[in-house]
Amino acid sequence: MTAASSPLITLVGTVTSTAENVARAIEMDCADLIHPIEVQRMDGLDIRAFDRDALYVICSSTHGAGDVPENAQALYQSLDSEPRYLGHVRYGVIALGDSSYTQTFCNGGLRFDERLADLGAVRIGDVFRHDASDGTEAVAAGVAWCRDWLAQALQPS
Ligand SMILES: Cc1cc2nc3c(=O)[nH]c(=O)nc-3n(C[C@H](O)[C@H](O)[C@H](O)COP(=O)(O)O)c2cc1C
Repeated sequence: MTAASSPLITLVGTVTSTAENVARAIEMDCADLIHPIEVQRMDGLDIRAFDRDALYVICSSTHGAGDVPENAQALYQSLDSEPRYLGHVRYGVIALGDSSYTQTFCNGGLRFDERLADLGAVRIGDVFRHDASDGTEAVAAGVAWCRDWLAQALQPS
């Protein structure tokens, strides 16, 4: 497999659409780096979402008491209830949050990262944490991060 010929699949967990806006902007602005790029809301997905030969980006906000968004619950829970080895999966994480939630900052994305790592998936680079309180714009910051991340992810191994 050469990564450049595999799709980028962005899995979106969101309540108020910020994460989806980030993913849609990545779809448009990173098309020169990888093709195709698919954006999938997590609604209705389960662990089989990771069956594809693809690069994955988890793009998830945090809600409730540091939880993954409602539309991400089924996928997140299936990583527990239907576990399987995910050693073929290479992924990155965009974790959206707000540092005013000091105890649970970006926990939604971090929870996915922890669970995927437990199942043997391989994260490329660091988790990108976006802070809704830091004055930066999530869409611009997410696209910039993803371009750097793709440069790393698409390097020949
Ligand atoms: C009711 C509510 C609860 C939230 N809880 C957390 C939290 O526990 N930790 C955190 O880092 N951010 C929290 N946030 C901030 C959101 O994750 C952040 O604003 C994010 O950008 C929203 O993305 P979305 O529009 O894709 O859902 C919360 C926001 C709301 C409205």
